[in-house]
Amino acid sequence: MRIQGGKILTADGPVPADVVIEGPAIVAIESPRAAPPEPGDVEAAGRWVLPGGVDAHTHFGMPLAGGVASLGWRESSAAALLGGTTTVIDFANPERGESLAAAVARWRTQADGSVLCDYGLHVTVVEATADRLAEVPPLLAAGVPTFKGFLAYKDRLMLTPPEMSALMAAVAAAGGLLLVHAEEGELNAQAEAELLAAGRTAPRWHPEAHPVESEVHAATLALDLAREAGCPLLIVHMSAAGTLAALRRARADREDGGPAALGEVCLHHLFADDAAYRTDERRALAAICSPPLRPAGHGAALLAGLADGAIDLLSTDHCEFALATKARAAAGGFVKVPNGCGGVGERLVFSHTLAVCEGRLDPWRWQQSLSGRPAELMGLGARKGRLAPGLDADVVLFDPQARYAWQPAPGSDREGSLWDGREVVGRVTDVWLRGAPVVRDGRLCDDQPGGLYLPRHLGPAPAGARP
Ligand code: URP
Ligand code: ZN
Ligand code: ZN
Repeated sequence: MRIQGGKILTADGPVPADVVIEGPAIVAIESPRAAPPEPGDVEAAGRWVLPGGVDAHTHFGMPLAGGVASLGWRESSAAALLGGTTTVIDFANPERGESLAAAVARWRTQADGSVLCDYGLHVTVVEATADRLAEVPPLLAAGVPTFKGFLAYKDRLMLTPPEMSALMAAVAAAGGLLLVHAEEGELNAQAEAELLAAGRTAPRWHPEAHPVESEVHAATLALDLAREAGCPLLIVHMSAAGTLAALRRARADREDGGPAALGEVCLHHLFADDAAYRTDERRALAAICSPPLRPAGHGAALLAGLADGAIDLLSTDHCEFALATKARAAAGGFVKVPNGCGGVGERLVFSHTLAVCEGRLDPWRWQQSLSGRPAELMGLGARKGRLAPGLDADVVLFDPQARYAWQPAPGSDREGSLWDGREVVGRVTDVWLRGAPVVRDGRLCDDQPGGLYLPRHLGPAPAGARP
């Protein structure tokens, strides 16, 4: 099959090229053929031909206490495909006392048989005990090379600085990558206690329990600890300009060598701000996530960091709860509302609209942050993230001119998200997963759970300074 007449994105801009696919793989990228398409070929005139998106940060079907869970694997992976993302990396979250391997197995049981896109797994470490740390090397060998530690969520998920250092040492020794949730649990707990004492329990107060300084301090601490431990570090879901400044300082400091210091920003922190907490209760509930949406201005700073290469990844932290679930929980105050918002289906279109069309991110950097860099940094570069011979034929056709008001997928439970109703530019029209059509004319054309689990193996550790 040949996808012909479209443009691929290069560092020099969009270039006409045909993509030739055989079975599950890309076999050639060729100069455009002048002859009309043959039977089975696809005419892509007017559209960009993109590699399938790789979202390095999702939480599909994430169970929480009280029988609540984020929207499940089938619905979330369908949204991913419709939005041009063909691979996600989700987080297996062990219970206290549960082994990391058991949590990974549990997550795979949930996903396999339901997931429509390909997926890999990170694992969260909430206990830095000798038993847990001993699991790091075998998990890495088995294809789970990325571990997340929390400095936030006191008494639940938080690791103390010595525990975080121990985890970093274990991950560094094994050749893995540590992901950190950078907010200071103590500071947040104190802010939360003060709000509750003052009777400030409505959803609009949620961001006040997550001050910017808490994130900046925690990010700075994590960067310092990682440098001492020699551990490659990715600060996930950066939401504040000060966090980016800390990352820039750390990268400058490592120019002479030292472990990689990487950054990830998520769609909602780029393109939504804390006004969402003050508009109406539904939007405020949709916006409850951690770190929270920040005052206008932080998103612009983070986007500049993505554009100049200080930040590598544009992910989503997709962790969407039905609005009714959040609303029920809100009766107990904002502290009871499950944290997380959606974005896996919106990532390409909204970042195109608000960054590329606005001239704030060039199309090549856009594509790299959505697929090339996440695939490379997460150990999937040999199969995913680029249009090149030998790679999986995960291909997206994208109409960069289409203008319309964004609506959630029909029948979904996603009403009231941060994104609905906003004017957008750009539409995902067609998607292939390993050569098989999964979206045609903007509609899912295959709802079989054909997603594959992808063991991952990191390449040589990225240098501290910019590659
Ligand atoms: O609010 C969020 N981000 N929920 C998902 C869990 C996390 O910390 O990434
Ligand atoms: Zn987190
Ligand atoms: Zn997350």
